[in-house]
Amino acid sequence: MEKLNEAIEILKSGGVVGMPTETVYGLAASIENENAIQRIFRLKKRPFFDPLIVHLSDLSQVEGVAKDVPSVAYELMENFWPGPLTLVLPKKETVSGLITSGLDTVALRVPKHDLALKLIEELGQPLAAPSANMFGRTSPTQASHVRESFPDVLVLDGGTCEVGLESTVVQVINQEIQILRPGAVTAEMLKEVAPSYHIVRKTKSVAPGHLEHHYQPQKKLILIKDLTKNNGSLENAVELRLSPDPALAARELYSKMRDLDKGNRDFIYCRWENEWKGQLWEAIWDRLKKAATTVF
Ligand code: TXA
Ligand code: MG
Repeated sequence: MEKLNEAIEILKSGGVVGMPTETVYGLAASIENENAIQRIFRLKKRPFFDPLIVHLSDLSQVEGVAKDVPSVAYELMENFWPGPLTLVLPKKETVSGLITSGLDTVALRVPKHDLALKLIEELGQPLAAPSANMFGRTSPTQASHVRESFPDVLVLDGGTCEVGLESTVVQVINQEIQILRPGAVTAEMLKEVAPSYHIVRKTKSVAPGHLEHHYQPQKKLILIKDLTKNNGSLENAVELRLSPDPALAARELYSKMRDLDKGNRDFIYCRWENEWKGQLWEAIWDRLKKAATTVF
């Protein structure tokens, strides 16, 4: 409780705090404070062309930041919020272009974590927050991960993130729901709520910030889909073993990557099984592929 109050004071005075969510930890600042937003980019060494997600405490805050919201977007919010779904919507003029990288859209979500919701509610302002890692590096799923990267930032400890992968990012364009980043809310789940819409997975970079490489450990990560194509030695490598249960594999992915990164082997490898298909596996594959230096 005391820490929550301290976090609110920091946010009010233009600072940033580490915030737990169900997906990954965020590095949060009030959307009303441009200096604080700038500080997020500086701390993360994040390029200004990569826009931030705005976190709300509930649906009633949508109208304050977005306009011309299509009715299907409201249906998605009602079904998946609080939860790991981010909606890209036309932004209100009052939202700082620093948050949206000059785009005329803003990305919104309500996280499913009591501490985050309390923080936003009691501050009374939405929070802009990217994942709390250095730009391009492995995302944080525990408070200690955030402290390692940002020792001077106050972190609210909300335990281990339940989902462990960043939210699904979608944008509604005419009769299409475009998935800009896969996550725990899958295409099938979206289709169920919006059966008359086409669910389209955008593989090419359509939004600034969707880069080919991301989530990378310091060590080289080799992703092996076809063992017969790997002719290098794995002798000095350590294996990143994923659980066959996709929910567990997602939850553990980033913390395993971080732990193995600290070991004394030269590189990390991960074996991908043929039967890992559909649903959450797509999001896990997306992160692994971007984190890998080589894919066989
Ligand atoms: O689960 C999550 O989404 C976590 C937690 C903290 O909420 N946040 C997160 O933020 O993953 P970040 O900054 O690591 O990724 C946000 C991504 C950006 O890289 C960008 O690709 C996309 O969301 N995004 C943000 N605003 C956008 C916009 N207006 N149009 C298209 N994509 C946008
Ligand atoms: Mg990130």
